[in-house]
Order: sequence, then C-alpha cells, then structure tokens
Amino acid sequence: MNILVTGGAGYIGSHTVVELQKAGHMVAIVDDLSNAKANVIDSIQQITGIRPAFFQIDCADKNALRTVFEQHPVDAVIHFAGFKAVGESVKKPLAYYRNNLDSTLTLLEVMEEFGCKKFIFSSSATVYGPNNPYPYKEEMPAIQSSSPYGWTKVMIERILTDYTTAHPDFCAVLLRYFNPIGSHESGLLGDDPNGIPNNLMPYITRVAAGQLEKLTIFGDDYPTPDGTCLRDYLHVVDLAVGHLKALEYAVKHLGVEAVNLGTGQGVSVLELVHAFKQANGIQLPYVIGPRRDGDLPAFWADAEKAKNLLGWEAMHSIEDMCKSAWEFAKKK
Ligand code: UD1
Repeated sequence: MNILVTGGAGYIGSHTVVELQKAGHMVAIVDDLSNAKANVIDSIQQITGIRPAFFQIDCADKNALRTVFEQHPVDAVIHFAGFKAVGESVKKPLAYYRNNLDSTLTLLEVMEEFGCKKFIFSSSATVYGPNNPYPYKEEMPAIQSSSPYGWTKVMIERILTDYTTAHPDFCAVLLRYFNPIGSHESGLLGDDPNGIPNNLMPYITRVAAGQLEKLTIFGDDYPTPDGTCLRDYLHVVDLAVGHLKALEYAVKHLGVEAVNLGTGQGVSVLELVHAFKQANGIQLPYVIGPRRDGDLPAFWADAEKAKNLLGWEAMHSIEDMCKSAWEFAKKK
C-alpha cells in the first residue's frame, strides 16, 4: 500500500516507517522538521535499503499537502505530526491547540478531497485522565486530560469519531500509546529531543553519557511498592509494529476503534533506573526530588483488545529497551 506518514521523521514515526517499508509498503513522509532532523531519512534508507519520499512541509498547509496527494497515491494515513511536550503545552496552550487541531483538520479535508478513507491516529494514554482506575480499558470514559497537549488528543479522538459517524465508509484507529522507550537495533534511530529532555529515558541516557549530572526521581512517597511512579514502558519497535497491525485492520474494517498499545505491566521509576544500570553495566547517579505536578502515581494498559482485535502484543523486555536506548545514545 501507499502510506502517508505525517511526523515520519520523529521518534515513533521513523521507527514506524522502517516497519512499513520492511513489510513492503511504499511510504511518503510529511514532516516540517520542527522537532526532528533531516538525517533521519538517511538512517531509514540505511536500515531498509529504501529511501522514503520526503516532503518538508507543515501538515496544516493545505496547498502543500494537496501537492503531496497529487504526486503520490495515498491509500492510508498514519498521523504522528504534532507538538508533544506536556509542560510546554501548559505554557503555550494556543500554540498546541492551533497546531495539533489545524494539522488534523487540514489532513482530513485533503484526504476527503482525494477519497482516502483509512486513518491511524497517534493518541495517548493521557486521554484516560486522572480519574479512571488502572489498568486502563478502551471502553472507559476517555474525556479528560491534565494538559492542553492531552486535551488535543482527546479532541482529535472526538473529531475522528464524529467524522467516522458522518462517513460510515471511513475507518479510524485511535492508538493510545503508553510509555514508548528504546531504539531501533541498528542504533541509527532513537529518541533525541531538543534541549533538556522532559521524559524519563532520554534524561537517563544523557546522565549516563555524562551530558547531565544526575537524574532527579520525581517523588518516592507515592502509594506504590517502592514509592516511585509506575508506568507501562514499551519498546518503540513493538509500538511501530502496532501501527502496521492497525493498518492491516483498517484495510478490512470500517468505523472507529480505540486501542491501547502497552505491555500490560507497571514498572516503577526505580526499577527502570536499576534495569538500565544492570543492562548496560554503567553507573547512573540519581537523587530523589519532589513530585512533578500533574504526574499520576500509577497506570498501565489492559492490553487484551490489541491482542484480540489487531493480533498485536509487545515482545521486547525492559532489558532490550534499556540496552537499545543506550546503544543509540552512545552513538550521538
Ligand atoms: C508523559 C505524558 C504522556 C506523553 C508522554 C510522552 C502525562 C500524564 N503523560 O507521560 O501523555 O505521551 O509523556 O511525551 O502528561 N520521571 C522522573 N524524572 C525525570 C523524568 C521523569 O522521575 O527526569 C518520572 C515521572 O515522574 C514519571 C515517569 O518518570 O513517573 C515517566 O515520565 P515521562 O517519561 O515524562 O512520561 P509520563 O509523564 O508518564
């Protein structure tokens, strides 16, 4: 199939492009490189032997997007492009709503013009909000979030649901990611955020590399076994394969489906830190600091629906995630 991947030069997008090409799909990437680097396209080519078509454009630029659809047949779209820093979204809500909503609406309008009816959306476990019990199940009311970033995911899920109701010949799969970490085994792709990382694993690898002095663990007084927060960490390559499975599902079905992509296991911050040290045989200085605003004590996925509906389950261990994350960081 011919797949358009928006945000395809980013962390999850680039790993997904690799899996799509390995499975024989033709990929066109749309990415404005606002939070990604152009050499990712070279890395994808190095890994798969195929250079994806690449358009450096903003997804909210309708005319530019039309040009892509004119030049490339598009059977399905996987939409990753969007701003994603939780803390920044609290400070710049308008930028987040404008960018994330505009790009999705524009994409849907252009898809409609060109008769494209398959949409895979990069959503997040954040849509379950602060009040649902864990493990999170897809049928729980997902109408809450704790940041403007999270609300854009809630709103886009709503837009896609309403659009699918109005267009019963459309299929949208809303993939709710838990905490993706790790890197491609080649060490050529990985999570490489600009500036000081907000997320745990890129922070850990920069401490391990000596670029940051120490990790601060945000709180050890949570009601969890070791007092630190529990999350459902999954390998980014597993997550990428989940998109391939969602695509296979979307080709054969109509309507909208939300699906969790997680392992179904909660791992604490301290457990991850120790796993990283052990997997890589290196030291990782850390201190315990205060809790971070907005963090929930614990959540993980109920992973049954992904297994039953998409035939997908996470395969990689925490050790694989820690080793591959370090392999990538070492090469930087
Ligand atoms: C957050 C967002 C999620 C988003 C994801 C990836 C929320 C509720 N969650 O997940 O929507 O998709 O980022 O961008 O907004 N930690 C430390 N020290 C650090 C960094 C993190 O102790 O320096 C801890 C956090 O307290 C948390 C865990 O590590 O318990 C994971 O944090 P992080 O990687 O930022 O992901 P989430 O907050 O779970």
